[in-house]
Amino acid sequence: MNNYKIAAIPGDGIGVEVIAAGVEVLQALAAKCGTFGLEFAHFDWGSERYLREGQYIPEGGLASLKAFDAIFFGAVGSQEVPDHVSLWGLRLPICQGFDQYANVRPARVLPGVTSPLAKGKAIDWVIVRENSEGEYAGSGGRVHQGLPIEVATEVSTFTRVGVERIHRFAFELARTRPAKHLTLVTKSNAQRHGMVLWDEVFAEVAKDYPDVRTTRELVDAVTTTMVLKPEQLDVVVATNLHADILSDLAAALSGSLGIAPTANLNPSREFPSMFEPIHGSAFDITGKGVANPIATFWTAVMMLEHLGEAAAARELMAAIEAVTESGLHTPDLGGKATTREVTDAVLALIRR
Ligand code: IPM
Ligand code: MG
Repeated sequence: MNNYKIAAIPGDGIGVEVIAAGVEVLQALAAKCGTFGLEFAHFDWGSERYLREGQYIPEGGLASLKAFDAIFFGAVGSQEVPDHVSLWGLRLPICQGFDQYANVRPARVLPGVTSPLAKGKAIDWVIVRENSEGEYAGSGGRVHQGLPIEVATEVSTFTRVGVERIHRFAFELARTRPAKHLTLVTKSNAQRHGMVLWDEVFAEVAKDYPDVRTTRELVDAVTTTMVLKPEQLDVVVATNLHADILSDLAAALSGSLGIAPTANLNPSREFPSMFEPIHGSAFDITGKGVANPIATFWTAVMMLEHLGEAAAARELMAAIEAVTESGLHTPDLGGKATTREVTDAVLALIRR
């Protein structure tokens, strides 16, 4: 029997609430299935720790994560720490340090959930976000700080290896889906270096996937396709920043940021992959017990799939969809249910 070691990092804000719910559900699922085990280790890495000790990740912390099969992450972000400090202190060192270059963000309107789009039911997308470089490479600097002549540069970095591997990942994923359609999102009309490499490498990789239909869209134009012709998209591959923006739009169009999951994958499996809801720490509702745990449960489905527990993943997804369909919704979906009530409903279906 496989016994998976999972590092749980709840982090900040509602991350703590939803990860607790997720761990509960995953443990119930493992007990029910009886074919695999899950062993959770909890890490208190978050902004409180940073404010107390000056570090998000303690000395040697990243190395200690290597021993885990997966990382189950909540959120990072605090009103007391600048966002760029918290991001570069916790989430990005894990994503980049463990070369989790493929960020996968499915978007679908779950049963019982209303999309703001009339054609919402046509949303069935997977956004593949380049997760290791591009606009998030962290390359740049500030010169003459604080003086009137101050200059700041923020340099996007595109490497042939980085571009090729994400395109190949997206083609492989597109190949597994019924529509077998991949949209390349670009901005090579305005950005004539990195984005042109991005397009060229896409065309090269495409030759290896004659069974996958491809489309090319500029990032501004694809937002209109998402809203007006959602049925024309299937798998979408975009740079780190473009996909960051598009995935929030995708989440809103599929009903709520409170249901959107993410996998940060290290496809070679040299390092553990990290699974997280995309909603962030949400100070406005922290501690109120109304955070939507569905994003985290769906994230758990992605984690189970990655671990190779496909049957358990399907069972959890079915339970999630039965609960959304029943109308038991948290306030982000227009309902009155609490995190506890939604979690209990999913637990009841699993234990049935
Ligand atoms: C996301 C988030 C992060 C990002 C934030 C929290 C920095 O928006 O995962 O999409 O931009 O990557
Ligand atoms: Mg984002």
